[in-house]
Amino acid sequence: MRSVTNMFAASRREFIFGGATLAGLAALSPGWALGASNRSPIILRPSRADVQLLLDGEPRTRVWAYNTTVPGPLLRVRQGETVRARLQNGIDSPTTIHWHGVRIDNAMDGVAGLTQEAVATGDSFDYTFTPPDAGTFWYHPHNRSWEQVARGLYGVLVVDEPDPPPVDQDAILALDDWRIDEHGQIDDASFGSMHDRSHAGRLGNAFTVNGRSVQDIPVRSGERLRLRLCNTANARVMNLALEQHEPTVIATDGQPVAPRALGDGRITLAPGQRLDVIVDMSLAPGSRAEITEVTGGGRLVGGAFVYDAVAVARDHPLDASIRLPANPLSGQIDLDGALVVELVMEGGAMGGMREALYRGRTLDIRDLVQEGVVWAFNGVAGRPEKPLFDVKRGRTVVLRMVNQTAWPHAMHMHGHHGRLLDTTEPRAGAPWLDTVLVSPREQLSWAFVADNPGKWMLHCHMLEHQAAGMTTWFRVSG
Ligand code: C2O
Ligand code: CU
Repeated sequence: MRSVTNMFAASRREFIFGGATLAGLAALSPGWALGASNRSPIILRPSRADVQLLLDGEPRTRVWAYNTTVPGPLLRVRQGETVRARLQNGIDSPTTIHWHGVRIDNAMDGVAGLTQEAVATGDSFDYTFTPPDAGTFWYHPHNRSWEQVARGLYGVLVVDEPDPPPVDQDAILALDDWRIDEHGQIDDASFGSMHDRSHAGRLGNAFTVNGRSVQDIPVRSGERLRLRLCNTANARVMNLALEQHEPTVIATDGQPVAPRALGDGRITLAPGQRLDVIVDMSLAPGSRAEITEVTGGGRLVGGAFVYDAVAVARDHPLDASIRLPANPLSGQIDLDGALVVELVMEGGAMGGMREALYRGRTLDIRDLVQEGVVWAFNGVAGRPEKPLFDVKRGRTVVLRMVNQTAWPHAMHMHGHHGRLLDTTEPRAGAPWLDTVLVSPREQLSWAFVADNPGKWMLHCHMLEHQAAGMTTWFRVSG
């Protein structure tokens, strides 16, 4: 197989600059929005579908999708309202739905083999929950997610603040990258590849925003936009540039932060993470500014702000506050008496891991590779029978993550959000996160209050790493 980097470079020509004109104006959220506040459940049915991921004129791509669209239906409720969703499995692989970032009742967390059995083909499962927090969340399978998410099974869940800051447009940008073969189809042969598992994960060669190769956002000069960015890729850490615009971050992983301007317009988003930003459309009518993915000096066009040729919404930026109301997360974390848990990440290419405990047996690296396993937490590969730790409800936990590998990892915790510490103190203004990017050789302490009872996953959201060993769980008791 050609190296992934080359494929990525090649694809820019083939798919992005293929000579086709840019896709026409596509509506952003309308069209795939469904209210979730009605009494009867919304049906979410994964099935095969053919969608126009690539530019018009390129072939349609056979994917797996909720209700035949990528992303699946936008679920939108007001804070305090209940989400009712019925999963009806229409693919020939067992599946579940996990509600990423929602501090949910454990029974609704959707983790196959931990909180529920995977739902067989033709069967259904009802998810009912009331998200405590307003913000931007997403949903995806939690069974063979390395394959099911890569094939297109994901959607966005928005929980609206009762009184959100005023904006002219509230747009969702679900960012994905796909590994597409020369026929425009998902590259099947490389699923589960040992190279992907032991290196950066399954990186793609086609970049999409809301399931399209180029997503134009029609705007008027002077408008204020709230963009809800969500990285749904298996493994790619996205580095986005909003050319000629200055985004201000107002929420991370669904949780409000004090508004913080990103002067250079650069946004880093690890797999699983979300960022809400406010952007004022400060250019003249008729302008066009591209949204690009710029990792490693590349430049993939994901979309563009396309200014109406004449219309002006206002002369000055809106003068209203953009600060979000607080969520019911306690602002403080009391570190006295915290349970400190070491989490040593090892393995992967150039990691030098010799052995690990896997399914109760110590295996050397050659036997582990035979099992498709190459990563470990604290010497244990794969989800162990016993939790990493048990904690009484209400206690603070400090996860001391030590990345001894040569790779970055997007560590995701279920059921809770935590804040990074400066050695022993909460970092000033540290945001609440459910997914933390840990760089190679980096050590980070992540503190959270274990206030949600149940069995919760803790894993790398580079989905190949998760499948190849980087997964564990913890229990919060009654
Ligand atoms: Cu977004 Cu355990 O997953
Ligand atoms: Cu990882």
